[in-house]
Amino acid sequence: MSKKIVAGNWKMNLLLSEAKELFAQLSDQYDLWSLSSEKQVILAAPSIYLDALVQLAEDYPYIYIAAQNCHWDNKGAFTGEISAEMLASIGVSHVIIGHSERRQYFAETNELLAKKVQQTLEHNLSPIFCCGESLEVREQGHYISFILQQLDESLGGLSSKDAEQLIIAYEPIWAIGTGKTATPEQAQEVHAAIRVWAKEKFGANTTIPLLYGGSCGPNNASSLFEQKDIDGGLIGGASLKAETFIPIIKAIQ
Ligand code: PGA
Repeated sequence: MSKKIVAGNWKMNLLLSEAKELFAQLSDQYDLWSLSSEKQVILAAPSIYLDALVQLAEDYPYIYIAAQNCHWDNKGAFTGEISAEMLASIGVSHVIIGHSERRQYFAETNELLAKKVQQTLEHNLSPIFCCGESLEVREQGHYISFILQQLDESLGGLSSKDAEQLIIAYEPIWAIGTGKTATPEQAQEVHAAIRVWAKEKFGANTTIPLLYGGSCGPNNASSLFEQKDIDGGLIGGASLKAETFIPIIKAIQ
């Protein structure tokens, strides 16, 4: 069985005071101690808040702090960039790699993402690797092969040991921030294909958590998370408020 995970992707939102307030509301309104190795919450915050959040989360062993990106190299003349090793040095545990917004606005390719994944693993961070198709690819009908190619090209070189650290998020681009969620059946179809891919690649016992993302909110989280191969969610907009994020965490009972 894969562990269940709800991850909030705050993207470029919230001021520091708001981020701290949101964390305080989460801890006041939800028993973060009830989380466990089998049921985890991850918060992916803007880089400059990571240190503060790592400290706020210190008391809760199963709430993890993630970065939304890292550089593909370890150090050097890359003005403005942050390495995986730097993230690890302040207590960050996960890094979102290959979000569709990074692929689209920062021209990140599958090949480049493979290097970023490698960096995270070298520094004992868990990559939350995002994949997903555009509306055009969905309508053309070859979305499964498109997604498996993303996985092959960025994750194909990993060992079964590496895969123990890995989380994969399926996020159809047409569903991100649009209010247009994939139906549970549409999401399950892709998750099942990713599960088969993972077992073929890393062995029958692999338990990589597979998260769904794209307009997932309090009203549809349960029906998505009930699907056999959906182990939780990567949540954008609805992770910015305790009143919408907490019900999503509860949906992974
Ligand atoms: P959304 O974003 O929940 O706002 O659609 C999800 C994501 O981009 O991770």
